[in-house]
Amino acid sequence: MTIAPPAPHDTRATAADPVDVLGSSAHEQVIFCRDEATGLRAIIAIHDTTLGPALGGTRFYPYGSEREALADVLRLSEGMTSKAAAAGLELGGGKAVIIGDPATLKTPDLMRAYGRFVDSLSGRYFTAADVGTTAGDLDHVGESTEYVVGSNRGSGDSGFSTAYGVFCSMRAAAEHLWGAAGLAGRHVGVEGVGKVGSHLVELLLDAGAQVTVADPSATSIDRLRQAHPGVAVRSSVLDADVDVYAPCALGATLTPATVPQLKAALVCGAANNQLLDSSVATLLRERGITWVPDFVANAGGLIQVASEIWEHTPEQVRARIAAIGTTVRDILDRAQTIGELPGDVADTIVQERVDAAPARDRRDA
Ligand code: NAI
Repeated sequence: MTIAPPAPHDTRATAADPVDVLGSSAHEQVIFCRDEATGLRAIIAIHDTTLGPALGGTRFYPYGSEREALADVLRLSEGMTSKAAAAGLELGGGKAVIIGDPATLKTPDLMRAYGRFVDSLSGRYFTAADVGTTAGDLDHVGESTEYVVGSNRGSGDSGFSTAYGVFCSMRAAAEHLWGAAGLAGRHVGVEGVGKVGSHLVELLLDAGAQVTVADPSATSIDRLRQAHPGVAVRSSVLDADVDVYAPCALGATLTPATVPQLKAALVCGAANNQLLDSSVATLLRERGITWVPDFVANAGGLIQVASEIWEHTPEQVRARIAAIGTTVRDILDRAQTIGELPGDVADTIVQERVDAAPARDRRDA
């Protein structure tokens, strides 16, 4: 497939420049997939298989261009390497994107055609659900390949596992900040009460925390109110008078404009890519706010779906998710001792784990 070079006026210089992928990014393999009959256009990116086969979801999204789709899949697959390594999994990082509007383009045949491309990688890449794809779609993918996790035939929705990992992370961070009482009596603002946030609210209430939520979806709020009528609802929790801000909706909510509005001393949530850019980590520290890196806190879902590969029991899965709390404690202790940002310490831990892996033949990842 030929990719058009960037227009001369386009001065964006990113690692995802389609004309220089191999030169400027660390990805092992990037595959462009097209199926005329179903209209499938997809890109699968395998970032790193040092620790094991790549695993990451398939995002189905109406990208404006192939360049945009490529930039996204390169960024997302790299993030999966970090997430898997931080979670102590013997997995590498990968991700896929299908270009188009899932509402109009998605068919069982297209998902089966996509599954054939996944299958052609012979297990170097396992796929899962992401934005725009569901466990039901994965059932169709699974008709063409065995390298799929998180389908209805597998371990199913990962919302609770992700919430439990966030909860264990938040509790560890709370103990680091406030001592043994942890989250008891603390006030947590949960932004977004969908598949993850709703379970997080439950876990927090059980731990004796006070919870306030914000979500523009009447459906999500109604569901929450039915289960927990006493929970307070606000239009925004980012600027609320809370001890902990838990972003569980969209990414990039922490920016130079929003950090000054925070009243929380701790930020810990499920949303991916919470910081607009890396400078925000410094702004948070300057304000004395502790940030738990998102790719560490939200790995519970990954741990759950990955367990299908190794056939782990639910007890083993729960223990592995709980261990995220230990990792968070290590990160915050180390960050405090050496005066570094938690995100930088987490990156170092990822690099240490990748570097410590025995050399392997990547074809057998
Ligand atoms: P979801 O789509 O089920 O729920 C998101 C909720 O956020 C919805 O109720 C939506 O109405 C609400 N929302 C949207 N905009 C909002 C805003 N501006 N303020 C407050 N609420 C808003 O998504 P899910 O699965 O709960 O995921 C939440 C976040 O966690 C996402 O960023 C996702 O990428 C991330 N994540 C999810 C994992 C999972 O296992 N589901 C795994 C790892 C990360």
